[in-house]
Amino acid sequence: MSNEKVVWITGASSGIGEALALELARGGAKLVLSARRADRLEALRLRCPDPARVAVLPLDVADTTRAKEHAETAQVPFGRVDVMVHNAGITQRSLVVDTALDVDRRIMEVNYFGVVALTKALLPSMIARKSGHFVVVSSVVGYVGTQQRSAYAASKHALHGFFEALRAEGHADGVKVTMVCPGYVSTDLTLSALRGDGSVHGERAASNAAGMSPAQCAHRIAHAIETQPREVYVGGREVAAIYLRRFAPGLLARILPRVNAT
Ligand SMILES: NC(=O)c1ccc[n+]([C@@H]2O[C@H](COP(=O)([O-])OP(=O)(O)OC[C@H]3O[C@@H](n4cnc5c(N)ncnc54)[C@H](OP(=O)(O)O)[C@@H]3O)[C@@H](O)[C@H]2O)c1
Repeated sequence: MSNEKVVWITGASSGIGEALALELARGGAKLVLSARRADRLEALRLRCPDPARVAVLPLDVADTTRAKEHAETAQVPFGRVDVMVHNAGITQRSLVVDTALDVDRRIMEVNYFGVVALTKALLPSMIARKSGHFVVVSSVVGYVGTQQRSAYAASKHALHGFFEALRAEGHADGVKVTMVCPGYVSTDLTLSALRGDGSVHGERAASNAAGMSPAQCAHRIAHAIETQPREVYVGGREVAAIYLRRFAPGLLARILPRVNAT
């Protein structure tokens, strides 16, 4: 990692974001860490090799009215943000038929509108410098909608459309986009998943628990920050679903009714 890069990571208080912060800090990047739990961000800052090269910016991505203020604040400690890692996210465990519309809206607010708002707030500074990189943590579910994840799938699919357009618009201004699509990663994600009535699922899914470690996933993302590919698929054999969708959609449609990982 170039030690000149300033990387702003949302969702840095746990899981993939936390592991990515540690990996990038060890590589010499300067970091701005965001999430709602300020105490966890500060503890993470102190675990980094040089805490003076790490700033903490607590925020709720769903509070889009403050996105501009947050983007300005993020640029204060190190003078700019070179790489924005949109990693904060929540998931869902409920069938469409059981899911209140408010839950669909909540997931879109966090996973989609929160990302869009911070992107719009930061983009002008990148265009002015003719340089910038958005790294967007989507999911295999950003390509393949699976059972009990309708709103989550919708929010991640929406990110692909938004950022495909931004990649084209940003080309002339040196603004790059990398979409990261993890499969199962062993994190707390399903603990905070929303049920159909908006309550918290509170269970660790077996499928995620058996997945790759956050550190392994973070390592792949760190490499993508260096190499700036358009997309990265990270995970085990579940990643094959993305290729099935592209090359054998009929076969995938016959398989998906039998896939209902909790
Ligand atoms: N784990 C997997 O299997 C998997 C697979 C594919 C994609 N992903 C994606 O990977 C990303 C990271 O998830 P993870 O697996 O590392 O789960 P995680 O451990 O639950 O981390 C989620 C992070 O998002 C933050 N967050 C949630 N709501 C927020 C809000 N309103 N404002 C600001 N921050 C918020 C959380 O921090 P606070 O609670 O402190 O705010 C936490 O730091 C997500 O976008 C997820 O969709 C995960």
